[in-house]
Amino acid sequence: MSEDFTGYVGMFDSGLGGISVLKECVRLLPHENFLFFGDSANAPYGEKTRDWVLARSRQILQGFLARGCKAVVIACNTATSASAATLRLEYPDLPIIGVEPALKPAALAHEHDRVLVMATPMTVSLDKYQHLMSEWGDRVEVVTVPCTGLAARIEKGNLEGEDLHELVLSLVGDYRGKVDSCVLGCTHYPFIKPQISRVIGDDVPFFDGGAGTARQLKRLLEAGGLLNGSCDAGSVVFRSSIDTPEELALYQSFFERQI
Ligand code: DGL
Repeated sequence: MSEDFTGYVGMFDSGLGGISVLKECVRLLPHENFLFFGDSANAPYGEKTRDWVLARSRQILQGFLARGCKAVVIACNTATSASAATLRLEYPDLPIIGVEPALKPAALAHEHDRVLVMATPMTVSLDKYQHLMSEWGDRVEVVTVPCTGLAARIEKGNLEGEDLHELVLSLVGDYRGKVDSCVLGCTHYPFIKPQISRVIGDDVPFFDGGAGTARQLKRLLEAGGLLNGSCDAGSVVFRSSIDTPEELALYQSFFERQI
């Protein structure tokens, strides 16, 4: 194993979307060291099979362990739905933190609202989402939209194109003026809040799972006595299955974006 990341928090996504979660984690835990792996060569996960995503998530987690990581954040709603429960059974001593569509905070914020949930086709088809719906779906009216193609489009990196607007319009254009809030149930989507607002309306508030995931990471590191004791700023290292300087520069530029 070539690289040593002992004591780092390993974090992964199908690509650069998970950087939206990484930003929240770094904000809350500035002294921690993070190794972010984007599986961009295999994105999008949300249009693959559950078994494939589970096997790939297990492989990535094993790579983190082999490099000495102390905890793993699955910064992907799709991979969390497909793999988190199984991996926690397989690795009971490893803190494994996942991300889920933020239906709970949306429901708690405004009861009886009409909530638009945008997520990948796999996330909304799996039992984890059905469970969330049975827990919170009676407090609010939920409109679920599987957003085929959207994560793959964001993964390209250029967020300015009119084609992106057309895609968002085709997915959620019908809900303009008809929803009170919007849950971004895929970690890629926080990067296109302005494009989504342009379609559904500027006054619709967003909820995503990034901040909750960061809080859960902090809780588990504290509980396990695993917090980094250093007072120095932690480091953030990017790796990708598209192993080119251009791809890593794209990750860095997304890390520096305001969202
Ligand atoms: N960013 C991921 C998620 O949160 C996956 C998107 C994809 O690869 O389909 O669901």
